[in-house]
Amino acid sequence: MDNRTALIAGGAGGMGFAIAERLGKDGFAVVIADLPGPRLNDIASRLQAEGYRALALPLDIRQPAACREVVKAAVDWSGGLHALINAAGVWAEGAPEAMTEADWDLTLDINLKGPFFLIQAALPHLGEGASIVNIASDAGLVGNTGAAIYCASKGGLVLLTKALALDLAPRGIRVNAICPGEVATPMIEGQANRYGNGDPEGYKAALLAHYPQGHKARFIQPEEIARLVSYLCEDAATPITGAALSIDFGVTAGY
Ligand SMILES: NC(=O)c1ccc[n+]([C@@H]2O[C@H](COP(=O)([O-])OP(=O)(O)OC[C@H]3O[C@@H](n4cnc5c(N)ncnc54)[C@H](O)[C@@H]3O)[C@@H](O)[C@H]2O)c1
Repeated sequence: MDNRTALIAGGAGGMGFAIAERLGKDGFAVVIADLPGPRLNDIASRLQAEGYRALALPLDIRQPAACREVVKAAVDWSGGLHALINAAGVWAEGAPEAMTEADWDLTLDINLKGPFFLIQAALPHLGEGASIVNIASDAGLVGNTGAAIYCASKGGLVLLTKALALDLAPRGIRVNAICPGEVATPMIEGQANRYGNGDPEGYKAALLAHYPQGHKARFIQPEEIARLVSYLCEDAATPITGAALSIDFGVTAGY
């Protein structure tokens, strides 16, 4: 039996769950860490019912001490750590004048500070061949109108990834970012309900309106992101580190 373990922050989210399921299928024991709540426990039960070794741990990634505790609990449970996936995140939207310090703190703490401190906590347990994958965004590569704070957080995550890849290369630890376009997850549904002015379907259609595929543009499925994460956790991906991999139907390719 494979004895590798993956820790997935945001593991109860749309992408996080698909990643946990996929890595479980690949033979990893999976630790899903997310805000406490029924969804976290339900997802762990679902993964266990599918035959995967899975553990749910509550985590508020904004707290460095909580990051250390979750890593310790994961290692106590499994005996080691071989992959760390940062898939927790929040969206922030609004005109620059409307955004508050609280919006800034929440978004940066979850999307940028949290991943750093989780990685820091995991480092003593990660060895040669380990893979760290940060879920950034197309909004970490190009600006998105009405999302300055979110773009700042994801752009920061892309460069955090590259800098850490350099720091950790001598130890054989790889660090990569994935930059997805629009993915069909609860985050998008939440955005559409909150910012869609009563027309969530119209909001979602507008998200796809600028894709180069035109009327054929579609949402990416979380499983499509999970396959890329899976690849980045394999030895086959050994030459890939410090990359910001777009999976976005070309929306960041130019215009
Ligand atoms: N859905 C998209 O179109 C899209 C596109 C590009 C990038 N992303 C990014 O991908 C990642 C995954 O997003 P998703 O689409 O699966 O969204 P999601 O809302 O389904 O999942 C995000 C998860 O993060 C968790 N989370 C939020 N705050 C947390 C905290 N303080 N501590 C721990 N966990 C916390 C949530 O509970 C949730 O389970 C996010 O970083 C998001 O910004 C999403």
